[in-house]
Amino acid sequence: MQGRAMSSAPVASEIEVLDLRHFSARQLRPVLEREAELWQDRLRWDYRSSIELLLQYMESRILQGFAALDRGRVCGYTFCVYEGTKAVIGDAFATGHRTMSDADATRAMLVPLLEMLRHAPGVDRVESQLLLFNAGEFADLFTSSEYTIYPRLFLECNIGGMKEAMLANAIVDPLSGVPADLELSLWSSEDYQAAAELIHACYRGHCDTRLNDQYRTLHGSLRFLHNIVRFPGCGVFESNFSWMLRDRRSGALVGMVLCSRVGAGVAHITQLCIAQAYRGRGLGHGLLLRAAQSLLRAGFEAITLTVTEANEPAVRVYERFGFTLRHRFDAMVMESQFKPF
Ligand SMILES: CC(C)(COP(=O)(O)OP(=O)(O)OC[C@H]1O[C@@H](n2cnc3c(N)ncnc32)[C@H](O)[C@@H]1OP(=O)(O)O)[C@@H](O)C(=O)NCCC(=O)NCCS
Repeated sequence: MQGRAMSSAPVASEIEVLDLRHFSARQLRPVLEREAELWQDRLRWDYRSSIELLLQYMESRILQGFAALDRGRVCGYTFCVYEGTKAVIGDAFATGHRTMSDADATRAMLVPLLEMLRHAPGVDRVESQLLLFNAGEFADLFTSSEYTIYPRLFLECNIGGMKEAMLANAIVDPLSGVPADLELSLWSSEDYQAAAELIHACYRGHCDTRLNDQYRTLHGSLRFLHNIVRFPGCGVFESNFSWMLRDRRSGALVGMVLCSRVGAGVAHITQLCIAQAYRGRGLGHGLLLRAAQSLLRAGFEAITLTVTEANEPAVRVYERFGFTLRHRFDAMVMESQFKPF
């Protein structure tokens, strides 16, 4: 869907909110650079290549969204992208307004963005995860506009600190010697189809299908996988630390852990799943350990990941492994089945 040019939306007297496409990359750059610093400090995530990509899109004036101005200087931005009838709020961030808090300045842009999406013809679903903000920060905005909020956890595990325990085999490894019925291998590009089928099967009826509708179909799961492996949005995919688990007799894929590099010495787990029939044998834990060992050998110090708080089986596996909470944030989803086209 092509966006309309939006006129000025006066949200608060101290701040002016205008169509993002009025502004050049040069005007937006200081705000994005500050955001990259916060991604590093708060989430150990090197966001610099992502902001360069975003600035290219902004310079091309193709992102639909809003910029916030403080006396003519850009102090924030928000934008959304469209995938068919779904809109994804890509980001919302503000910094350095003279009198308003960063959260309030961000809120001033989210109000017109949500309003625009509510009236956008053909948009029947909106997804958003604002990782830099604390859970509950914008609860009032999203609960008052047909959204459901799902708290999510940003977890980290200092594998550098677990080195001695791993070397001394003090951590139980259910995959040591790999159970006779299973075999391990690293990710290969041959695995796309089987991996998408496994993801689709593992997330049937799962709480995360409410946050990310790609899990609901095989086609969506394949798309999700391509996004992780081919594009740098969730870090740079690392095939050397991404492990596949197969049933030796049938050759069927029964589990996987996928890793990306998000910063110097920091990896991010973008997917962990085990086929239903193989759960409860320690294989999820075993794949995490296998990824951690290979990352540790390559000099990585930490692993991070995000998990939905309501996904209790996964949260238990991560906590038992040694992951701890670094940050709690919200995923917001609007799903309308009755919106007219
Ligand atoms: C999360 C998930 C990967 C866990 O896989 P799993 O192989 O069942 O995990 P484990 O077997 O290591 O642990 C599960 C349970 O089995 C127990 N277990 C049984 N045998 C075990 C063994 N030999 N060693 C360790 N744990 C064992 C664990 O203690 C744990 O019990 P608990 O839930 O009471 O704490 C799996 O449930 C899944 O694929 N879920 C859907 C996808 C998903 O949510 N992924 C995470 C997204 S962030």
